[in-house]
Amino acid sequence: MTNFTWLLDQYRHLLNLPAHTARVTLHEGHTPLIPAPSLAGALGGGFQLWIKYEGLNPTGSFKDRGMTAAISEALGRGAKSVICASTGNTAASAAAYAARAGMQAVVLIPQGKVAAGKLAGAVAYGAQVVQVDGSFDQALAMVVALTEKHPLALVNSINPYRIEGQKTAAFEICDALGTAPDWLCLPVGNAGNITAYWAGFKGYHAVQATGLPQVLGVQAQGSAPLVLGHPVDHPETVATAIRIGKPARGEEALLAAEESGGRIIAVSDDDILAMQKLLASSEGIWVEPASAAGLAGLAQEIAGGRFDPHGQRIVAVCTGHGLKDPGIITQGGIQLESIPPELGALEAVIRS
Ligand code: F0G
Repeated sequence: MTNFTWLLDQYRHLLNLPAHTARVTLHEGHTPLIPAPSLAGALGGGFQLWIKYEGLNPTGSFKDRGMTAAISEALGRGAKSVICASTGNTAASAAAYAARAGMQAVVLIPQGKVAAGKLAGAVAYGAQVVQVDGSFDQALAMVVALTEKHPLALVNSINPYRIEGQKTAAFEICDALGTAPDWLCLPVGNAGNITAYWAGFKGYHAVQATGLPQVLGVQAQGSAPLVLGHPVDHPETVATAIRIGKPARGEEALLAAEESGGRIIAVSDDDILAMQKLLASSEGIWVEPASAAGLAGLAQEIAGGRFDPHGQRIVAVCTGHGLKDPGIITQGGIQLESIPPELGALEAVIRS
């Protein structure tokens, strides 16, 4: 027997999971909170910054926290198949946990808008992948309508157990720091994760008096319904994970920002990609574009003088691994030096 505690058992007293919940796990969660002093310095310094590196979950994104809960609940009540709409990460996660549970997974993805590492994962884990010639929002509406007629379990973050599972990231941050941070920055797409974090921090504070963070939610400029105040019919962004125009939990996201004394803002694709590179080159942490949005938002607020970080303890949630979307780095072609197999040639090209 190895010494293993399931994430959802560790925090069971803080979670609302039904008694029939089975246990389908890939040992998700327990991700590191990595100090990022070089990046903090690059943003002006004078504050403490940590990265909650969720790309280190079993399928490479934070979705696994919610999926272990949603699939375990579905299995426990006898569901045979699960279904979700996804910009990619939920699809890969649902496929993996369904495989683990011996269930079928069907995933709907927006055609041509899912990064290679996510699509490959969903296929490798054996899901039925259906592409929709439309947006994520349209795919989600179809999945909701389908599950009203057919007995497939819906595992998008509309499913309350997804939120329960994802609360654990907030608990882990409080455990690591001893209290909640002053600020939490994270990307916002369908708005399940910001909802889960806020519920998690509030739940933990109620029993442990860990305090509450202010929440900075960040959308991409071309997909920013919560900033604009209305749905976006044709969302666009290089951060395909958050290419969402009608967030299912949009109201809750706005409430989380407001209640916490934080806000939801939008950043440009250029700023997202610049932050992705800065994080990788200054801290050795490579995340997918959407995952750099929270930090890009923080940088924007500091540069614009709207946020004084001095003395603050800030946590940025980096939701997915860089390996999910290698194409974003290689798409323009990578210029490599090529040399013959001779030491002299190597000495001639070495730059440091
Ligand atoms: N970051 C990544 C890497 C994501 O994959 C997502 C959402 C988000 C942030 C935003 O989280 O939706 O809870 O606000 N991806 C979903 C998916 C939509 O289908 O994989 P959210």
